Amino acid sequence: VLYLRGDTHSDFVAEAASQLDELLIDHAHCEKKAASTALTLLFRYPDVAALQAPLSALAREELEHFELMLATCESRGITFGRLTPSAYAGRLVQAARTEEPGRLVDALLCCALIEARSCERMKLLASGLPDADLRALYSGLLASEARHHALYVDLAAGLVGRDQARARLDTLAAHEAEVIAEPSTRLRMHSGPLVGPPA
Ligand SMILES: [Fe+2]
Ligand SMILES: [Fe+2]
Repeated sequence: VLYLRGDTHSDFVAEAASQLDELLIDHAHCEKKAASTALTLLFRYPDVAALQAPLSALAREELEHFELMLATCESRGITFGRLTPSAYAGRLVQAARTEEPGRLVDALLCCALIEARSCERMKLLASGLPDADLRALYSGLLASEARHHALYVDLAAGLVGRDQARARLDTLAAHEAEVIAEPSTRLRMHSGPLVGPPA
């Protein structure tokens, strides 16, 4: 079960299909960023025992996904390189608390929501993209992202209890649903409805 409040806008797959290079390069960056975020939590919270082995394993898995996306780009003649990230993650974490212990709980729940949104979109791509190889790629990845979503929710529940974690997740999920629906000028894994030409 994914704890998301709103659905992705209906044009997302069509937008992605018309800008596959941007989608695949941005997706590669997202996998690398997912690994980096898990490592950042390990460096920030070496004393929280429950995080250590699960987040290390998660980071490893995200780096495998990164390598898979690099190989996918290369096999399609797409050059991987710097890309302006979407505003999504930065906007999402604006709702996170900055004082402990809420800071860690919210960081885990924001990660849970990013994993959930990625999984929801991969499901759409897995069924809607015209390219059969990419449909297979996305159906292969989405189960891991669903598992990562559940892991982050469980880690937060381990810190503050299931009820408190769920209540906070509801609040953050409402914010996430607003952020993901904000219009974007560039197609990204987490862009909103595309408007106008890129600035
Ligand atoms: Fe991943
Ligand atoms: Fe993930």
